[in-house]
Amino acid sequence: MGDNIPVMTLDGPAGAGKGTVSRAIAKALGWHYLDSGAIYRALAVSVQDAGVSLEDIDGIVELAKRMNLSFESGDVPAVILDGHNISDRITTEVCGNITSKIAVYGPVRQTLLQKQREFRKAPGLVADGRDMGTVVFANAQFKVFLTASAQERASRRHKQLKEKGIDVSLTGLAKEIEERDRRDIERSVAPMKMADDAVLVDSSDMSIEEVINRCLALLDS
Ligand code: C5P
Repeated sequence: MGDNIPVMTLDGPAGAGKGTVSRAIAKALGWHYLDSGAIYRALAVSVQDAGVSLEDIDGIVELAKRMNLSFESGDVPAVILDGHNISDRITTEVCGNITSKIAVYGPVRQTLLQKQREFRKAPGLVADGRDMGTVVFANAQFKVFLTASAQERASRRHKQLKEKGIDVSLTGLAKEIEERDRRDIERSVAPMKMADDAVLVDSSDMSIEEVINRCLALLDS
């Protein structure tokens, strides 16, 4: 369904700049935007609030089925879970880490699959995540795997948090990002990996504008 509607997928590790770049591309093209990480993060919030154990796969699947999630439009879309704005809660590193623990479960991923595919609407979609080009939109027309060195990703994230007034140790942050990446790469279901037909973009020494232009150029190739 909707297979003819164009999709650009951006997959890659934490802190590579996927969110910023994806939103800018969606805006430039007038396409829809899917932040699939926000869906997984919202589920983590739901799990915490319900007091469900991180090992209780059936309980987590139930919450995933019941979760009433919507995105409000804006430069950075607000995330609304069951009527509450959880945008701030889902951006913490703690939430990211819990999220990567529940994201390893196949039945949980299966339950969220349809929710993500519903974002494929005309005139097009930019989808950001870990398995967008390999699983969710495996037939996407434009695929990017966006990465950057671990050191660069940690220092970008550190700067972002600092700007928000959150002071954390750079070494601790680098370790957390590394752990999260390892869980995302090593899981057996839909691990983070570059699709065979994706273009690799290493943003370590590129400006955001350069990355955006590199991705937009794919539409002309
Ligand atoms: O992209 P973001 O950092 O918000 O993702 C948070 C976590 O959600 C990732 O570390 C990963 O474990 C999980 N995730 C996923 N598949 C996606 C998007 C996110 O497993 N498509």
